[in-house]
Amino acid sequence: MEDRLRSIEDEALEAVAKAQDREAIEQIKVRFLGRKGLLTNILKGLGSLPKEERPKVGKHANQVKVKIEHAIKERLKSIKRQAGPRLIKGFDPTLPGRALPLGHLHPITQVLDEVCSVFERLGFSAAKGPEIELDFYNFEALNIPPDHPARDMQDTFYVDEKVLLRTHTSPIQVRTMEVMKPPIRIIAPGKVYRCDSDITHTPMFHQVEGLMVDRDVSFAHLKGILTHFAQEIFHRDTSVRFRPSFFPFTEPSAEIDIQCVICRGDGCRVCSQTGWLEVLGAGLVHPQVLRNVNIDPEEYSGFAFGLGIERIAMLKYGINDIRLFFDNDLRFLNQF
Ligand code: PHE
Repeated sequence: MEDRLRSIEDEALEAVAKAQDREAIEQIKVRFLGRKGLLTNILKGLGSLPKEERPKVGKHANQVKVKIEHAIKERLKSIKRQAGPRLIKGFDPTLPGRALPLGHLHPITQVLDEVCSVFERLGFSAAKGPEIELDFYNFEALNIPPDHPARDMQDTFYVDEKVLLRTHTSPIQVRTMEVMKPPIRIIAPGKVYRCDSDITHTPMFHQVEGLMVDRDVSFAHLKGILTHFAQEIFHRDTSVRFRPSFFPFTEPSAEIDIQCVICRGDGCRVCSQTGWLEVLGAGLVHPQVLRNVNIDPEEYSGFAFGLGIERIAMLKYGINDIRLFFDNDLRFLNQF
């Protein structure tokens, strides 16, 4: 019996030392210490031993049991320490992680940054204004009379009688000139809102406003700067055309076309066979607008321009539906 106990002890301790995981330990427990385990059987069988042998064998069997239990406890500790979480089912911390897909700037943001940087290189600095604007800055100070069609509820989102969502970035002209005296050279990007929606209009879109005020600023400066801009953003030899137009806050006013980026002037569907695409509104700052901010129009003059970023992006990338920019469809966005 003593020999049997010794061999059980040796066998159990060897098995414990070899066990690599909890499962193996569990099997050892069942095999030796379980209800029908080898050691348990011996303990159960003590009764059938001669009386004088029982205490000795019983004591020995208990010692073996304690040893095995101790070895199991220690082995479990070291398994836990060594292999750590590797033993958690289905989780291997040594595998390389799954890389998160890297995002990028929205195409509109990219074009906005690009447009601004063209002007920043020319010495214009960025200015900002609120999207929720006073009627005063959006219309009145810009010489836009109360009966002007732009003030119609059909176009303008009104918050209340005096507050609205700005319909263009031009209020930033006024806000800038209120706090800054000439020489002024600013560029003002931002969101604008108009109640309009179809394949070329969205209720929210982006504009970039430009303003330069100084002594002797002329239409020639405006023309030179905008030609440079068109050639930087589109093609190096893009031609630019100025057409007489009207804005209440500029005089004279112009709409600026660039040579069609698709047909390069030959005429196609995109340019309605004209060879030209309208991209900008501009003009010399109206003397009344300067007077409204206490700048003397006899001493100073300036030019201003405003352009729509979505329109530029559509032409640059040949996109025919403005709504694609706002659908957030990754199949579209991933292409930029
Ligand atoms: N604010 C005008 C518009 O949104 C564009 C513009 C800006 C025209 C500056 C002239 C000067 O249509």
